[in-house]
Amino acid sequence: MEIGAASAREELDWVRRNKISQSDRDALTSPLQKRLEADRAARPFINCAYPPYAGALTPSDDIVICRCEEVSAGDIRRMAGFGCISPNQTKAFGRVRMGPSQGRYCGLSVTQILPEANKLPLQEIGCYRVRPPLKPVTLGEIAALAKYETSEVRK
Ligand code: FES
Repeated sequence: MEIGAASAREELDWVRRNKISQSDRDALTSPLQKRLEADRAARPFINCAYPPYAGALTPSDDIVICRCEEVSAGDIRRMAGFGCISPNQTKAFGRVRMGPSQGRYCGLSVTQILPEANKLPLQEIGCYRVRPPLKPVTLGEIAALAKYETSEVRK
């Protein structure tokens, strides 16, 4: 089993246990916490030993960054040239991060390209705001939720 999958299961167990008192939770999850810490212990080494290559997050202009909306790195740099400073503005400039993946594929690259293109520090550029729903949902699922809420109100 991969370390990431095991960690995800441990974190899920952690969340499930949040429904009990904090002291009980801490006592129950102490072994899980220790295993999680052990799983994560290698992360600094992996990050140091295998950093992404220089162009991974800021590729050349012809590389498509936002696959959902077919926006290239060059398009994002052109947006910066027209005054687009923050990642959230790229939505208005070119629908970046508005596709079905909701920016899962493009968000990190956009937040790396814009500071470089605007010659500003990353802290000034900021990141996309995370808003629910965190996973794409169908209209049918939303409609079913409304039906459920209506029946709850009637009770
Ligand atoms: S890749 Fe940009 S929204 Fe999906």
